[in-house]
Amino acid sequence: MKINKEINRRRTFGIVSHPDAGKTTLTEKLLLFGGAIQEAGAVKNNKIKKTATSDFMEIERQRGISVATSVLGFEYKNIKINILDTPGHKDFAEDTFRTLTAVDSVIVVIDVAKGVEEQTEKLVKVCRMRNIPIIVFINKMDREGKDAFGLLDEIEQKLGLHVTPLSFPIGMGYDFKGIYNIWEKNVNLFTGDPKKDIEETIQVSDLSTDEIDQLIGTDSADTLREELELAQGVYPEFDIDQYKRGELQPVFFGSALNNFGVRELLDCFIEIAPPPRPKQSDIREIRPEEDKFTGFVFKIHANMDPRHRDRLAFVKVVSGKFERNKPYLHVRSNKNLKFSSPNAFFAERKEIVDEMFPGDIVGLHDTGTFKIGDTLTEGEILQYKGIPNFSPEHFRYINNADPMKSKQLNKGIEQLMDEGVAQLFTLELNNRKIIGTVGALQYEVIQYRLEHEYGAKCSYENINVHKACWIEPKDPKSEEFKEFKRVKAKFLAHDKSDQLVFLADSEFSLQMTQQKYPNITFHFTSEF
Ligand code: G4P
Repeated sequence: MKINKEINRRRTFGIVSHPDAGKTTLTEKLLLFGGAIQEAGAVKNNKIKKTATSDFMEIERQRGISVATSVLGFEYKNIKINILDTPGHKDFAEDTFRTLTAVDSVIVVIDVAKGVEEQTEKLVKVCRMRNIPIIVFINKMDREGKDAFGLLDEIEQKLGLHVTPLSFPIGMGYDFKGIYNIWEKNVNLFTGDPKKDIEETIQVSDLSTDEIDQLIGTDSADTLREELELAQGVYPEFDIDQYKRGELQPVFFGSALNNFGVRELLDCFIEIAPPPRPKQSDIREIRPEEDKFTGFVFKIHANMDPRHRDRLAFVKVVSGKFERNKPYLHVRSNKNLKFSSPNAFFAERKEIVDEMFPGDIVGLHDTGTFKIGDTLTEGEILQYKGIPNFSPEHFRYINNADPMKSKQLNKGIEQLMDEGVAQLFTLELNNRKIIGTVGALQYEVIQYRLEHEYGAKCSYENINVHKACWIEPKDPKSEEFKEFKRVKAKFLAHDKSDQLVFLADSEFSLQMTQQKYPNITFHFTSEF
Protein backbone atom coordinates (compact mmCIF):
# COMPACT_ATOMS: atom_id res chain seq x y z
CA MET A 1 0.00 0.00 0.00
CA LYS A 2 1.22 3.46 -0.90
CA ILE A 3 0.79 4.92 2.56
CA ASN A 4 2.97 2.26 4.21
CA LYS A 5 5.68 2.88 1.66
CA GLU A 6 5.53 6.60 2.31
CA ILE A 7 5.59 6.15 6.09
CA ASN A 8 8.56 3.81 6.00
CA ARG A 9 10.64 6.19 3.97
CA ARG A 10 10.19 9.15 6.32
CA ARG A 11 12.62 10.25 9.02
CA THR A 12 11.57 13.26 11.06
CA PHE A 13 14.12 14.37 13.59
CA GLY A 14 15.67 17.27 15.45
CA ILE A 15 19.30 18.18 16.09
CA VAL A 16 19.84 19.36 19.65
CA SER A 17 22.89 20.93 21.19
CA HIS A 18 24.22 23.68 23.37
CA PRO A 19 24.76 26.83 21.28
CA ASP A 20 27.99 26.74 19.31
CA ALA A 21 28.52 22.99 19.36
CA GLY A 22 27.94 22.93 15.61
CA LYS A 23 24.24 22.24 15.07
CA THR A 24 23.84 24.74 12.25
CA THR A 25 27.00 23.58 10.53
CA LEU A 26 25.93 19.94 10.75
CA THR A 27 22.43 20.76 9.46
CA GLU A 28 23.97 22.51 6.53
CA LYS A 29 26.25 19.61 5.66
CA LEU A 30 23.33 17.20 5.81
CA LEU A 31 21.44 19.43 3.39
CA LEU A 32 24.44 19.53 1.09
CA PHE A 33 24.50 15.74 1.00
CA GLY A 34 20.82 15.71 0.19
CA GLY A 35 21.50 18.11 -2.68
CA ALA A 36 18.95 20.40 -1.05
CA ILE A 37 21.30 23.37 -1.01
CA GLN A 38 24.18 24.10 -3.31
CA GLU A 39 26.56 25.92 -1.02
CA ALA A 40 27.38 26.31 2.62
CA GLY A 41 26.10 29.42 4.36
CA ALA A 42 22.46 29.13 3.37
CA VAL A 43 21.22 27.99 6.77
CA LYS A 44 23.87 29.75 8.75
CA ASN A 45 22.70 33.17 7.63
CA ASN A 46 19.29 32.47 9.07
CA LYS A 47 20.55 31.57 12.47
CA ILE A 48 19.67 33.65 15.50
CA LYS A 49 23.13 34.79 16.40
CA LYS A 50 24.46 35.02 19.89
CA THR A 51 25.43 38.64 19.42
CA ALA A 52 21.78 39.40 18.96
CA THR A 53 20.81 38.66 22.55
CA SER A 54 20.96 42.32 23.51
CA ASP A 55 19.40 43.44 20.27
CA PHE A 56 15.98 41.98 20.13
CA MET A 57 14.88 43.91 17.03
CA GLU A 58 17.51 41.90 15.26
CA ILE A 59 16.06 38.75 16.79
CA GLU A 60 12.63 39.68 15.51
CA ARG A 61 14.04 40.15 12.06
CA GLN A 62 15.82 36.84 12.22
CA ARG A 63 12.81 35.13 13.69
CA GLY A 64 10.97 36.19 10.56
CA ILE A 65 13.57 34.60 8.38
CA SER A 66 13.74 31.55 10.55
CA VAL A 67 10.32 30.40 9.31
CA ALA A 68 12.34 29.18 6.38
CA THR A 69 14.50 27.00 8.56
CA SER A 70 11.79 25.77 10.95
CA VAL A 71 11.44 22.62 8.92
CA LEU A 72 14.01 21.49 6.41
CA GLY A 73 12.84 18.72 4.14
CA PHE A 74 14.97 16.88 1.63
CA GLU A 75 15.49 13.51 -0.01
CA TYR A 76 18.54 11.34 0.44
CA LYS A 77 18.79 7.86 -1.08
CA ASN A 78 15.02 7.80 -1.52
CA ILE A 79 14.42 8.63 2.13
CA LYS A 80 12.36 11.73 2.88
CA ILE A 81 14.13 13.54 5.69
CA ASN A 82 12.52 16.32 7.73
CA ILE A 83 14.80 18.21 10.10
CA LEU A 84 12.86 20.24 12.65
CA ASP A 85 14.69 23.28 13.94
CA THR A 86 15.27 23.31 17.67
CA PRO A 87 16.73 26.62 18.84
CA GLY A 88 19.73 26.13 21.11
CA HIS A 89 19.34 29.61 22.61
CA LYS A 90 18.09 29.13 26.14
CA ASP A 91 15.47 31.87 25.92
CA PHE A 92 13.75 29.78 23.27
CA ALA A 93 14.01 26.51 25.17
CA GLU A 94 10.25 26.05 25.36
CA ASP A 95 10.04 26.20 21.59
CA THR A 96 12.56 23.40 21.50
CA PHE A 97 10.72 21.32 24.11
CA ARG A 98 7.54 21.56 22.07
CA THR A 99 9.30 20.70 18.83
CA LEU A 100 10.63 17.58 20.51
CA THR A 101 7.02 16.34 20.73
CA ALA A 102 6.98 16.22 16.93
CA VAL A 103 10.25 14.38 16.24
CA ASP A 104 10.71 10.64 15.90
CA SER A 105 14.37 10.75 16.85
CA VAL A 106 17.18 13.20 17.59
CA ILE A 107 20.86 13.72 16.93
CA VAL A 108 22.72 15.32 19.84
CA VAL A 109 25.80 17.34 18.89
CA ILE A 110 28.58 17.68 21.44
CA ASP A 111 31.70 19.82 21.15
CA VAL A 112 34.74 17.59 21.77
CA ALA A 113 36.51 20.30 23.76
CA LYS A 114 33.59 21.51 25.83
CA GLY A 115 31.97 18.16 26.47
CA VAL A 116 28.44 18.01 27.86
CA GLU A 117 27.04 21.52 28.39
CA GLU A 118 24.04 22.87 30.22
CA GLN A 119 21.50 23.17 27.38
CA THR A 120 22.39 19.70 26.14
CA GLU A 121 21.66 18.32 29.58
CA LYS A 122 18.24 19.95 29.70
CA LEU A 123 17.24 18.91 26.20
CA VAL A 124 18.45 15.33 26.53
CA LYS A 125 16.46 15.04 29.75
CA VAL A 126 13.30 15.86 27.82
CA CYS A 127 14.23 13.33 25.11
CA ARG A 128 14.79 10.67 27.74
CA MET A 129 11.43 11.37 29.36
CA ARG A 130 9.86 10.52 26.02
CA ASN A 131 12.20 7.63 25.16
CA ILE A 132 13.19 9.33 21.93
CA PRO A 133 15.92 7.41 20.09
CA ILE A 134 19.16 9.40 20.22
CA ILE A 135 22.33 9.34 18.13
CA VAL A 136 25.28 11.32 19.53
CA PHE A 137 27.65 13.18 17.21
CA ILE A 138 30.90 14.39 18.76
CA ASN A 139 31.97 17.36 16.71
CA LYS A 140 35.11 19.44 16.10
CA MET A 141 37.52 16.50 16.12
CA ASP A 142 39.93 18.71 14.17
CA ARG A 143 40.47 20.59 17.44
CA GLU A 144 42.18 19.55 20.64
CA GLY A 145 39.58 18.20 23.01
CA LYS A 146 38.76 15.58 25.58
CA ASP A 147 39.91 12.03 25.16
CA ALA A 148 37.29 9.74 23.60
CA PHE A 149 36.84 7.42 26.59
CA GLY A 150 36.66 10.33 29.02
CA LEU A 151 34.03 11.99 26.89
CA LEU A 152 31.94 8.84 26.52
CA ASP A 153 32.08 8.52 30.29
CA GLU A 154 30.98 12.10 30.74
CA ILE A 155 28.06 11.57 28.36
CA GLU A 156 26.92 8.55 30.34
CA GLN A 157 27.31 10.32 33.69
CA LYS A 158 25.88 13.71 32.87
CA LEU A 159 23.23 12.78 30.33
CA GLY A 160 22.26 9.46 31.84
CA LEU A 161 22.72 7.73 28.50
CA HIS A 162 23.94 4.26 27.74
CA VAL A 163 26.34 4.68 24.83
CA THR A 164 28.19 2.55 22.33
CA PRO A 165 30.58 4.07 19.77
CA LEU A 166 29.85 3.23 16.14
CA SER A 167 32.91 5.10 14.98
CA PHE A 168 36.19 5.80 16.71
CA PRO A 169 38.61 8.69 16.26
CA ILE A 170 42.22 8.18 15.28
CA GLY A 171 43.98 10.96 17.21
CA MET A 172 42.53 14.43 17.51
CA GLY A 173 43.27 18.08 16.91
CA TYR A 174 46.64 18.54 15.30
CA ASP A 175 47.13 14.77 15.18
CA PHE A 176 43.66 13.92 13.94
CA LYS A 177 44.12 11.27 11.27
CA GLY A 178 40.55 10.18 10.71
CA ILE A 179 37.98 7.77 12.02
CA TYR A 180 37.51 4.07 12.04
CA ASN A 181 33.90 3.31 11.23
CA ILE A 182 32.86 0.39 13.44
CA TRP A 183 29.44 0.28 11.79
CA GLU A 184 30.75 -0.02 8.22
CA LYS A 185 34.17 -1.47 9.09
CA ASN A 186 36.18 1.05 7.13
CA VAL A 187 38.63 3.87 7.65
CA ASN A 188 38.04 7.44 6.65
CA LEU A 189 41.20 9.53 6.48
CA PHE A 190 41.07 13.18 7.43
CA THR A 191 42.40 15.57 4.84
CA GLY A 192 41.08 18.75 6.39
CA ASP A 193 39.64 19.84 3.09
CA PRO A 194 36.11 21.12 3.73
CA LYS A 195 35.42 21.44 0.02
CA LYS A 196 35.57 17.74 -0.51
CA ASP A 197 31.96 16.68 -0.84
CA ILE A 198 32.30 13.04 -0.07
CA GLU A 199 35.21 11.55 1.80
CA GLU A 200 36.79 8.46 0.41
CA THR A 201 36.57 5.54 2.71
CA ILE A 202 38.97 2.65 2.67
CA GLN A 203 37.60 -0.74 3.50
CA VAL A 204 39.64 -2.46 6.21
CA SER A 205 38.35 -5.93 6.72
CA ASP A 206 40.93 -7.09 9.23
CA LEU A 207 42.49 -4.66 11.68
CA SER A 208 45.20 -7.13 12.66
CA THR A 209 46.89 -6.99 9.25
CA ASP A 210 49.36 -4.23 8.40
CA GLU A 211 46.92 -2.77 5.90
CA ILE A 212 45.94 -0.24 8.55
CA ASP A 213 49.60 0.47 9.51
CA GLN A 214 50.26 1.59 5.97
CA LEU A 215 47.36 3.98 6.08
CA ILE A 216 47.93 5.70 9.40
CA GLY A 217 51.39 4.61 10.58
CA THR A 218 52.28 1.86 13.04
CA ASP A 219 51.96 3.93 16.21
CA SER A 220 48.50 5.18 15.39
CA ALA A 221 47.48 1.72 14.18
CA ASP A 222 48.60 0.14 17.46
CA THR A 223 46.78 2.75 19.50
CA LEU A 224 43.64 2.27 17.43
CA ARG A 225 43.75 -1.51 17.89
CA GLU A 226 44.17 -1.12 21.66
CA GLU A 227 41.41 1.45 21.93
CA LEU A 228 38.98 -0.54 19.85
CA GLU A 229 39.65 -3.61 21.92
CA LEU A 230 39.02 -1.64 25.06
CA ALA A 231 35.87 -0.10 23.58
CA GLN A 232 34.58 -3.54 22.69
CA GLY A 233 35.20 -4.71 26.21
CA VAL A 234 33.54 -1.73 27.86
CA TYR A 235 30.61 -0.89 25.60
CA PRO A 236 27.79 -3.20 24.55
CA GLU A 237 27.30 -4.26 20.97
CA PHE A 238 24.93 -2.01 19.07
CA ASP A 239 21.35 -3.27 19.16
CA ILE A 240 18.85 -1.47 16.96
CA ASP A 241 15.83 -2.36 19.09
CA GLN A 242 17.48 -1.01 22.21
CA TYR A 243 18.31 2.16 20.31
CA LYS A 244 14.72 2.51 19.13
CA ARG A 245 13.42 2.07 22.65
CA GLY A 246 15.75 4.86 23.82
CA GLU A 247 17.87 2.47 25.88
CA LEU A 248 21.12 2.58 23.89
CA GLN A 249 22.69 5.52 22.11
CA PRO A 250 25.21 5.06 19.29
CA VAL A 251 28.02 7.63 19.07
CA PHE A 252 29.78 9.03 15.99
CA PHE A 253 32.83 11.29 15.83
CA GLY A 254 33.59 13.86 13.15
CA SER A 255 34.02 17.45 12.16
CA ALA A 256 30.97 19.10 10.67
CA LEU A 257 32.91 22.13 9.48
CA ASN A 258 35.24 19.88 7.50
CA ASN A 259 32.37 17.76 6.26
CA PHE A 260 34.06 14.88 7.94
CA GLY A 261 32.19 11.93 9.44
CA VAL A 262 28.91 13.46 8.32
CA ARG A 263 28.25 11.04 5.46
CA GLU A 264 28.80 8.10 7.85
CA LEU A 265 26.39 9.63 10.32
CA LEU A 266 23.73 10.20 7.67
CA ASP A 267 24.05 6.76 6.13
CA CYS A 268 23.73 5.07 9.49
CA PHE A 269 20.92 7.43 10.48
CA ILE A 270 18.68 6.57 7.50
CA GLU A 271 19.24 2.90 8.18
CA ILE A 272 18.57 2.82 11.91
CA ALA A 273 16.45 5.88 12.77
CA PRO A 274 12.77 5.07 13.15
CA PRO A 275 10.07 6.13 10.71
CA PRO A 276 7.04 7.88 12.28
CA ARG A 277 5.94 6.14 15.45
CA PRO A 278 2.50 5.58 16.99
CA LYS A 279 1.39 8.41 19.25
CA GLN A 280 -0.71 8.35 22.38
CA SER A 281 -3.90 10.42 22.44
CA ASP A 282 -6.20 10.90 25.41
CA ILE A 283 -8.33 7.94 24.35
CA ARG A 284 -6.07 5.55 22.46
CA GLU A 285 -2.79 5.06 20.68
CA ILE A 286 -2.91 6.13 17.03
CA ARG A 287 -0.83 4.25 14.48
CA PRO A 288 0.61 6.12 11.48
CA GLU A 289 -0.79 3.63 8.97
CA GLU A 290 -4.39 4.18 10.04
CA ASP A 291 -6.70 5.29 7.20
CA LYS A 292 -7.85 8.49 8.73
CA PHE A 293 -5.78 11.61 9.04
CA THR A 294 -4.86 12.99 12.47
CA GLY A 295 -2.26 15.56 13.41
CA PHE A 296 -1.38 18.15 16.01
CA VAL A 297 -0.03 21.70 16.16
CA PHE A 298 3.41 21.91 17.77
CA LYS A 299 4.48 25.38 16.73
CA ILE A 300 2.87 28.61 15.64
CA HIS A 301 4.85 31.22 13.84
CA ALA A 302 3.57 34.77 13.54
CA ASN A 303 3.81 36.41 10.20
CA MET A 304 6.31 39.19 10.39
CA ASP A 305 4.33 41.41 8.05
CA PRO A 306 2.39 43.78 10.34
CA ARG A 307 -0.30 44.36 7.68
CA HIS A 308 -1.42 40.76 7.88
CA ARG A 309 -1.96 39.24 11.22
CA ASP A 310 -1.93 35.72 9.89
CA ARG A 311 0.21 33.06 11.32
CA LEU A 312 1.58 29.76 10.22
CA ALA A 313 0.65 26.75 12.31
CA PHE A 314 2.98 23.76 12.02
CA VAL A 315 1.09 20.49 12.11
CA LYS A 316 2.76 17.11 12.40
CA VAL A 317 0.86 14.45 10.49
CA VAL A 318 0.50 11.49 12.86
CA SER A 319 -1.74 9.16 10.87
CA GLY A 320 -3.40 8.79 7.47
CA LYS A 321 -3.06 11.19 4.62
CA PHE A 322 -3.55 14.94 4.89
CA GLU A 323 -5.31 16.31 1.80
CA ARG A 324 -5.71 19.82 0.52
CA ASN A 325 -9.29 21.20 0.61
CA LYS A 326 -10.64 18.31 2.64
CA PRO A 327 -12.57 19.32 5.78
CA TYR A 328 -10.93 18.36 9.07
CA LEU A 329 -12.27 18.61 12.58
CA HIS A 330 -10.53 21.12 14.83
CA VAL A 331 -11.29 19.18 17.98
CA ARG A 332 -10.99 21.97 20.56
CA SER A 333 -13.51 24.26 18.84
CA ASN A 334 -15.54 21.40 17.33
CA LYS A 335 -15.43 23.14 13.95
CA ASN A 336 -14.66 21.76 10.52
CA LEU A 337 -11.86 23.56 8.72
CA LYS A 338 -10.61 23.32 5.14
CA PHE A 339 -7.19 24.36 3.99
CA SER A 340 -6.78 25.56 0.44
CA SER A 341 -3.07 26.27 0.60
CA PRO A 342 -1.26 23.88 2.93
CA ASN A 343 2.51 24.29 2.78
CA ALA A 344 5.19 21.66 2.65
CA PHE A 345 8.71 22.66 3.64
CA PHE A 346 11.82 22.10 1.62
CA ALA A 347 15.32 23.30 2.34
CA GLU A 348 14.98 26.86 1.19
CA ARG A 349 11.35 27.22 0.24
CA LYS A 350 7.82 26.22 1.05
CA GLU A 351 5.36 24.99 -1.50
CA ILE A 352 1.64 24.33 -1.65
CA VAL A 353 1.01 20.61 -1.80
CA ASP A 354 -2.00 18.35 -2.26
CA GLU A 355 -1.15 15.55 0.12
CA MET A 356 1.11 14.85 3.07
CA PHE A 357 1.98 11.67 4.92
CA PRO A 358 2.76 10.71 8.53
CA GLY A 359 6.04 12.24 9.62
CA ASP A 360 5.51 15.27 7.39
CA ILE A 361 4.98 18.76 8.68
CA VAL A 362 2.18 20.79 7.14
CA GLY A 363 2.19 24.59 7.42
CA LEU A 364 -1.36 25.94 7.72
CA HIS A 365 -2.31 29.60 7.46
CA ASP A 366 -4.17 30.65 10.55
CA THR A 367 -5.85 33.84 11.60
CA GLY A 368 -6.02 32.99 15.26
CA THR A 369 -7.87 29.67 15.40
CA PHE A 370 -4.98 27.52 16.48
CA LYS A 371 -3.30 27.04 19.78
CA ILE A 372 -0.23 24.94 20.48
CA GLY A 373 -1.29 21.36 21.14
CA ASP A 374 -4.50 21.51 19.06
CA THR A 375 -5.53 18.30 17.34
CA LEU A 376 -7.03 17.90 13.84
CA THR A 377 -8.88 14.72 12.84
CA GLU A 378 -11.35 13.40 10.27
CA GLY A 379 -14.12 13.51 12.88
CA GLU A 380 -12.90 11.43 15.80
CA ILE A 381 -12.87 13.31 19.08
CA LEU A 382 -9.43 12.87 20.52
CA GLN A 383 -6.64 15.04 21.80
CA TYR A 384 -2.93 14.35 21.50
CA LYS A 385 -1.04 14.40 24.73
CA GLY A 386 2.45 15.47 25.48
CA ILE A 387 2.80 19.21 25.04
CA PRO A 388 3.21 20.26 28.66
CA ASN A 389 4.14 23.66 29.97
CA PHE A 390 7.12 23.87 32.29
CA SER A 391 7.40 26.37 35.08
CA PRO A 392 8.70 29.66 33.68
CA GLU A 393 11.89 31.12 35.13
CA HIS A 394 10.84 34.79 35.09
CA PHE A 395 7.59 36.38 36.24
CA ARG A 396 6.25 39.93 35.89
CA TYR A 397 2.89 41.66 36.22
CA ILE A 398 1.69 43.02 32.92
CA ASN A 399 -0.20 46.33 33.05
CA ASN A 400 -2.17 48.16 30.41
CA ALA A 401 -0.31 51.34 29.50
CA ASP A 402 -3.06 52.72 27.25
CA PRO A 403 -6.54 52.40 28.77
CA MET A 404 -8.19 53.10 25.38
CA LYS A 405 -6.67 49.92 24.00
CA SER A 406 -7.54 47.30 26.58
CA LYS A 407 -9.44 45.16 24.05
CA GLN A 408 -6.43 45.10 21.74
CA LEU A 409 -4.15 44.32 24.65
CA ASN A 410 -6.22 41.36 25.78
CA LYS A 411 -6.51 40.00 22.26
CA GLY A 412 -2.76 40.42 21.74
CA ILE A 413 -1.87 38.71 25.00
CA GLU A 414 -4.23 35.85 24.25
CA GLN A 415 -2.82 35.24 20.78
CA LEU A 416 0.80 35.53 21.83
CA MET A 417 0.15 32.98 24.59
CA ASP A 418 -1.53 30.64 22.05
CA GLU A 419 1.66 30.87 20.04
CA GLY A 420 3.56 29.78 23.11
CA VAL A 421 5.68 32.93 23.40
CA ALA A 422 5.12 32.94 27.19
CA GLN A 423 2.65 31.76 29.81
CA LEU A 424 -0.15 33.77 31.34
CA PHE A 425 -1.29 33.38 34.94
CA THR A 426 -4.29 35.25 36.35
CA LEU A 427 -4.26 35.79 40.11
CA GLU A 428 -7.30 34.37 41.84
CA LEU A 429 -7.47 37.19 44.35
CA ASN A 430 -7.64 40.22 42.08
CA ASN A 431 -7.49 38.98 38.47
CA ARG A 432 -4.15 40.64 37.84
CA LYS A 433 -2.24 39.17 34.95
CA ILE A 434 1.24 37.75 35.31
CA ILE A 435 3.45 36.81 32.38
CA GLY A 436 5.90 33.97 32.92
CA THR A 437 8.78 33.40 30.49
CA VAL A 438 11.84 31.22 30.07
CA GLY A 439 14.13 34.12 29.19
CA ALA A 440 14.06 37.81 30.06
CA LEU A 441 14.24 38.59 26.36
CA GLN A 442 10.64 37.52 25.82
CA TYR A 443 9.33 40.55 27.74
CA GLU A 444 10.80 42.87 25.15
CA VAL A 445 9.52 40.69 22.35
CA ILE A 446 5.98 40.73 23.81
CA GLN A 447 5.99 44.47 24.38
CA TYR A 448 7.23 45.11 20.87
CA ARG A 449 4.78 42.75 19.23
CA LEU A 450 1.80 44.02 21.23
CA GLU A 451 2.57 47.49 20.02
CA HIS A 452 3.35 46.68 16.40
CA GLU A 453 0.90 43.92 15.70
CA TYR A 454 -2.01 44.84 17.99
CA GLY A 455 -1.59 48.58 18.59
CA ALA A 456 -1.56 48.05 22.36
CA LYS A 457 0.86 49.28 24.98
CA CYS A 458 1.93 47.50 28.12
CA SER A 459 4.25 48.00 31.05
CA TYR A 460 5.69 45.46 33.47
CA GLU A 461 6.02 45.38 37.21
CA ASN A 462 8.24 43.09 39.22
CA ILE A 463 6.76 40.30 41.27
CA ASN A 464 8.63 37.89 43.45
CA VAL A 465 7.84 34.42 42.16
CA HIS A 466 10.32 31.57 42.27
CA LYS A 467 8.37 28.80 40.60
CA ALA A 468 4.92 27.96 39.27
CA CYS A 469 3.51 24.57 40.33
CA TRP A 470 0.36 22.98 39.03
CA ILE A 471 -1.82 21.85 41.92
CA GLU A 472 -3.58 18.52 42.27
CA PRO A 473 -5.43 17.80 45.51
CA LYS A 474 -6.19 14.19 46.41
CA ASP A 475 -9.63 15.33 47.41
CA PRO A 476 -10.77 18.78 46.25
CA LYS A 477 -13.45 18.77 48.96
CA SER A 478 -11.09 18.04 51.84
CA GLU A 479 -10.55 20.44 54.75
CA GLU A 480 -6.84 20.37 53.95
CA PHE A 481 -7.40 21.71 50.44
CA LYS A 482 -9.86 24.33 51.66
CA GLU A 483 -7.31 25.52 54.19
CA PHE A 484 -4.57 25.57 51.57
CA LYS A 485 -6.75 27.72 49.32
CA ARG A 486 -7.52 30.10 52.15
CA VAL A 487 -4.03 30.44 53.57
CA LYS A 488 -2.30 30.64 50.21
CA ALA A 489 -4.94 32.71 48.40
CA LYS A 490 -2.38 35.41 47.63
CA PHE A 491 -0.24 32.90 45.73
CA LEU A 492 -2.91 31.15 43.69
CA ALA A 493 -3.53 31.77 40.03
CA HIS A 494 -5.07 30.12 36.97
CA ASP A 495 -3.18 29.32 33.82
CA LYS A 496 -4.63 29.76 30.34
CA SER A 497 -6.54 26.50 30.47
CA ASP A 498 -7.88 27.38 33.91
CA GLN A 499 -5.73 24.93 35.82
CA LEU A 500 -4.91 25.99 39.37
CA VAL A 501 -1.32 27.09 39.89
CA PHE A 502 0.63 27.87 43.04
CA LEU A 503 3.17 30.66 42.61
CA ALA A 504 5.84 29.95 45.22
CA ASP A 505 7.94 32.93 46.22
CA SER A 506 10.97 30.88 47.27
CA GLU A 507 12.28 27.34 47.28
CA PHE A 508 11.96 27.36 51.07
CA SER A 509 8.30 28.37 51.10
CA LEU A 510 7.58 25.78 48.42
CA GLN A 511 9.12 23.04 50.54
CA MET A 512 7.29 24.21 53.64
CA THR A 513 3.99 24.27 51.77
CA GLN A 514 4.59 20.81 50.35
CA GLN A 515 5.28 19.48 53.85
CA LYS A 516 2.29 21.18 55.36
CA TYR A 517 -0.15 19.83 52.77
CA PRO A 518 0.88 16.23 52.11
CA ASN A 519 -2.33 15.41 50.27
CA ILE A 520 -1.75 18.00 47.60
CA THR A 521 0.63 17.26 44.77
CA PHE A 522 2.73 20.11 43.38
CA HIS A 523 3.53 19.35 39.74
CA PHE A 524 6.34 21.08 37.89
CA THR A 525 4.75 20.63 34.47
CA SER A 526 1.18 21.34 33.44
CA GLU A 527 0.52 17.79 32.26
CA PHE A 528 0.17 15.06 34.84
P1 G4P B 1 25.39 26.01 16.69
O1 G4P B 1 24.44 26.04 15.55
O2 G4P B 1 25.36 24.75 17.47
O3 G4P B 1 25.29 27.21 17.57
O4 G4P B 1 26.87 26.05 16.10
P2 G4P B 1 27.44 26.49 14.67
O5 G4P B 1 27.15 25.46 13.66
O6 G4P B 1 27.03 27.89 14.37
O7 G4P B 1 28.98 26.44 14.99
C1 G4P B 1 29.57 27.25 15.98
C2 G4P B 1 31.02 27.55 15.60
O8 G4P B 1 31.75 26.33 15.58
C3 G4P B 1 31.15 28.18 14.24
O9 G4P B 1 32.25 29.06 14.28
C4 G4P B 1 31.50 26.98 13.37
O10 G4P B 1 32.20 27.34 12.20
C5 G4P B 1 32.37 26.17 14.30
N1 G4P B 1 32.40 24.74 13.95
C6 G4P B 1 31.38 23.92 13.64
N2 G4P B 1 31.82 22.66 13.40
C7 G4P B 1 33.15 22.69 13.55
C8 G4P B 1 34.18 21.71 13.41
O11 G4P B 1 33.96 20.57 13.08
N3 G4P B 1 35.46 22.13 13.67
C9 G4P B 1 35.77 23.41 14.02
N4 G4P B 1 37.02 23.70 14.24
N5 G4P B 1 34.81 24.35 14.16
C10 G4P B 1 33.53 24.01 13.92
P3 G4P B 1 32.07 30.61 14.45
O12 G4P B 1 33.43 31.21 14.39
O13 G4P B 1 31.26 30.91 15.66
O14 G4P B 1 31.18 30.99 13.26
P4 G4P B 1 31.60 31.22 11.75
O15 G4P B 1 32.28 32.53 11.76
O16 G4P B 1 32.47 30.09 11.35
O17 G4P B 1 30.31 31.24 11.04
